[in-house]
Amino acid sequence: MNLKEMISELTLEEKASLCSGGDFWHTKAVERLGIPAIMVSDGPHGLRKQDLKADHLGINKSIVGVCFPTGSALACSFDRELARQVGQALGRECQAENVAVLLGPAVNMKRSPLCGRNFEYFSEDPYLAGELAASQIEGVQSQGVGTSVKHFAANNEEYRRMTSSSNIDERTLHEIYLLPFETAVKKSQPWTIMCSYNKINGTYASENHRLLTEILRNKWGFDGLVVSDWGAVNRRDAGLAAGLDLEMPSSDGMNDAVIVQAVKSGTLSEKDLNRAVERILRVVFHSTEKKHEEVFDRDADHELTRQTERECAVLLKNEQNILPLNPKQKIAFIGKFAKEPRYQGGGSSHINSYQVTGALESAKEIANVTYAQGYDIVDDGINQTLLREAVEIAKSADVAVVFAGLPATFESEGCDRTHMGMPACQNVLIEEVCKVQPNTVVVLHNGSPVEMPWVSLPKGILELYLGGEAVGAAAVDLLFGFANPCGRLAETFPLKLSDNPSYLFYHSKNGEADYREGIFVGYRYYDKKKMPILFPFGYGLSYTTFTYSYLTVSSKEIDDTDTLNVSVRVKNTGSVAGKEVVQLYVHEMESAVIRPEKELKGFEKVALVPGEEKEVSFRLDKHTFAYYNTDLQDWHVETGAFELCIGKSSREIVLRETIAVRSTTKTCPHFTMDTPMYEVLGNPYAAPIARELIALCDFGSDHNNGENSLGESTASMMEAMTRELPIHAVCSFATKKISRKDLEEAVDRMNDAQS
Ligand code: BGC
Repeated sequence: MNLKEMISELTLEEKASLCSGGDFWHTKAVERLGIPAIMVSDGPHGLRKQDLKADHLGINKSIVGVCFPTGSALACSFDRELARQVGQALGRECQAENVAVLLGPAVNMKRSPLCGRNFEYFSEDPYLAGELAASQIEGVQSQGVGTSVKHFAANNEEYRRMTSSSNIDERTLHEIYLLPFETAVKKSQPWTIMCSYNKINGTYASENHRLLTEILRNKWGFDGLVVSDWGAVNRRDAGLAAGLDLEMPSSDGMNDAVIVQAVKSGTLSEKDLNRAVERILRVVFHSTEKKHEEVFDRDADHELTRQTERECAVLLKNEQNILPLNPKQKIAFIGKFAKEPRYQGGGSSHINSYQVTGALESAKEIANVTYAQGYDIVDDGINQTLLREAVEIAKSADVAVVFAGLPATFESEGCDRTHMGMPACQNVLIEEVCKVQPNTVVVLHNGSPVEMPWVSLPKGILELYLGGEAVGAAAVDLLFGFANPCGRLAETFPLKLSDNPSYLFYHSKNGEADYREGIFVGYRYYDKKKMPILFPFGYGLSYTTFTYSYLTVSSKEIDDTDTLNVSVRVKNTGSVAGKEVVQLYVHEMESAVIRPEKELKGFEKVALVPGEEKEVSFRLDKHTFAYYNTDLQDWHVETGAFELCIGKSSREIVLRETIAVRSTTKTCPHFTMDTPMYEVLGNPYAAPIARELIALCDFGSDHNNGENSLGESTASMMEAMTRELPIHAVCSFATKKISRKDLEEAVDRMNDAQS
């Protein structure tokens, strides 16, 4: 029986009931037709399968899983292949545990450092987030397990997350907040998309037809199912009509009855219901077809988390090559996180981890390390006894390594941070240790940027983010040089919170979250404003050095329908093997719209042994140069010059090349009486009509043989003057006037001339 036939066999009540969960984690079965129930589970950086008591906040225990580096860390790898491998492992775990869909990846933008869920998200950059998400989805789905890309869309704060309206202009919505979803959908066809709790421009995501149907399906070609975030349904019938197929968790039959009633009363078409059922059944049967025996090898996956985190950690500072550490030295590990690392965040992504490795434990095999707790995690206040002990052991060592970061209470699903600081007790500890020990390294565990008032004091800073259950072992690998740091920041670290572009508007007021900074999120803002920052987007150090040369392009002039090949050579000029992240940014030299200074449009990670040189190439297309044009309601490239910038970070561009791109899209601006003349004169179709008008005005060009008193051409001078005038005022300064009616006719002709 095919799906259509099966649907025709279902009663109205059965169809309605298939559109919501049977319980917290399962869809419903219809035994008489052989329709099975499937299970879904969180996500995104590990499997949180709840066998017994269910909840969506990570309160009740789930089966023992493996906690991979969170999105905040994984993004710093700038490594698609690694994201794919992590996805494959997660997919295998789901197969082994009979979970059909993993709820992730989470691709919301890091609009503000304060968002409590930033640790689950990838980046402030939509291109990076989209690319990594697409690879992770491919990895999971290659194992016959679906993904649920979340939270669609513009869910960037936890404050009033279930009711606030993210008010965003059209261009910003597409260029920043929707782009990671668009990339994920187009590149890797996720089985499902999870709609978010919030409203977008006043309409709940769960009943947003424009988002769930016009954009997601009609524009991007998504053909999977849309599931609600847990409890995100407002009006079920409106949601179904808008394109929300599956409600989760179960509504205990309440909303099923709403659907039945709506169909019976004719306010909801049965066609809409059938469509949702078909999408749900397609995923259910696809998943059962792909079901196979698999093993959840926790040891292998634990090892993969360690390898992964080694590729993610970012070396922020390494003065006088304090790192890697010499194991023969007297080393003091200070800070509770050395023993009990903070490696994941709270809420629905919380994993009942298999095996957590602390750095202190891991380092024991390598060096003789002393330890002091330094601070009390539950208390922000300074514990003088712990502080004194820490200073004492720092003094008597050759090197001190302070393990610091954000406590679990500072960042979690369900609440945002109120400031960007670390606990006072940790800031003081770092300062006091640095006073007595010039060789100090700080190791950070946090899901989002922190202010570092002490940044100039330690010689080394290693940022681990929330790096998964093997973070301690990975930290030791990096600190002692068994691995070479190669992560790059996937977000800017501002000097202070008030520098962040969303600072004035963040946190909805009366339920309205206004995204007034527009497209200027993260480095798009800091770079355009040329602002000092703590650490830039894309930044990270290595134990080796790299040089770049021979930036070449396949053509200096292209049409926007062409592809362009760009290559650059990178050489390891240091003495140890390492990996470099080659970043390609694009800068439009001149534009009719406001654009960021530069935007990331390509990245590749390359491994090089000492002395080795490799060519890294990029294939660029229309998307590299385009912005979202709201008149066309599409991506659009302006004809003009673009600079391709190869960088080590958004603030360190090492090579540049300029190319010309020709637009092949005919844009038809709509002219009105208020359109300035320069816009009309710049339009090849309307310009002749504009010139006619200027000629009719008679600016006295016949006098003095067409020359003014300075001997310049009067006509060209007048044309220059009239450029700034709106059409309705074109003859204000002329000797002859043109009637309003004639001007209106001319405007009509200008609009007609383009079609
Ligand atoms: C979260 C989702 C999660 C779901 C199920 C919700 O509260 O926002 O990310 O997948 O719960 O646990």
